[in-house]
Amino acid sequence: MIYRFFRFFLFAFSAETAHRLTLGSLRLLSYVPGVLWLLRALFGVSDPRLRLRALGLDLASPVGLAAGLDKDAEVFEAFGALGFGFVEIGTVTSLAQPGNPQPRLFRLRRDRALLNRMGFNNHGAAAAAARLARPRRTLVGANIGRSKVTPNEAAVADYVTSAELLAPHADYMVVNVSSPNTPSLRELQAVESLRPLISGVQQAIERAAPGRAVPLLLKVAPDLHDDDIDAIADLALELRIAGIIATNTTIGRGGLQTPPSEVEALGSGGLSGAPLKERSLQVLRRLRRRVGDRLLLVGAGGIETAEDAWDRIRAGATLVQVYSALVYDGPSLPSRIASGLAERVSRAGLSNISGAIGTDA
Ligand SMILES: Cc1cc2nc3c(=O)[nH]c(=O)nc-3n(C[C@H](O)[C@H](O)[C@H](O)COP(=O)(O)O)c2cc1C
Repeated sequence: MIYRFFRFFLFAFSAETAHRLTLGSLRLLSYVPGVLWLLRALFGVSDPRLRLRALGLDLASPVGLAAGLDKDAEVFEAFGALGFGFVEIGTVTSLAQPGNPQPRLFRLRRDRALLNRMGFNNHGAAAAAARLARPRRTLVGANIGRSKVTPNEAAVADYVTSAELLAPHADYMVVNVSSPNTPSLRELQAVESLRPLISGVQQAIERAAPGRAVPLLLKVAPDLHDDDIDAIADLALELRIAGIIATNTTIGRGGLQTPPSEVEALGSGGLSGAPLKERSLQVLRRLRRRVGDRLLLVGAGGIETAEDAWDRIRAGATLVQVYSALVYDGPSLPSRIASGLAERVSRAGLSNISGAIGTDA
């Protein structure tokens, strides 16, 4: 209800201005003594039914914040206090870069969706690493991508630089090869490119964080063909990475309520939110069929409610991530999803959420 009022105000601004206002306010508020404590008291999640061990970490909730909102690792503590069990920062690139020209972020309100072509705007891996190195409470994953000026032929070295800087300070790492907004990035999803890339990052993590076993995940696009999904799953198993995040945003524009002419006028970019729900779930199901419980799967894409999160977990996701729905539903969303999940755990006759993973795979 309160957020409806704020949303009215925020939606009067362009999507990127509203984004900046929100992050700026959260950053300022985080410095005020007692505010994080208050947020934790109001929104924090502490329910034994949701506590789980995954990726070698003890999480208070399987509901995390997806990459792209806290690109530069500036406000993860505030998001942690709002009830997210973990926060994924980034995508961070080895070189600081401004991203694409504005406007580059749009709301499709009728579809409860966002369209973005941000293009990995970020301050660079060294800056994010310095922020993560400070003492913190929130579990943080570091999502890395390729710098725009680096050609795919030199991508491994570029990812390796970021991995070496961030691995010592991250709870897990993600190789992002699925953003549609860096030219030819998604070509790195082809197995012959992916193999040296993942191996290179794995070795970099071992060098930079010896003995810490920082888990590595891969984030994939929803626009992959089924055969490619299977090939990536097989490679992930072969290289023994920890898991796969399904999915990033889509370049598809199907099934939208927003008139096609309006959508077209917005231009290129990745679509997220409600229209992505079905396809992300399909990709997750396909991955689960291929890998069973040998890899940890993270469901992302169009998760708006506890029911959506529950569906992903029963389809095989151990963890879920949210981004777009937060824009439409506000800061109480992570705690609302968490309490809805806890209720469903009890209704299913279970004592803990981990018992629900893959029960409808
Ligand atoms: C504005 C915006 C920026 C994003 N930036 C990134 C990014 O930098 N790296 C990444 O891996 N995913 C990024 N994403 C994708 C999200 O992490 C997520 O995978 C996708 O939005 C689907 O989840 P959702 O439907 O809950 O938004 C971004 C999404 C949005 C809306």
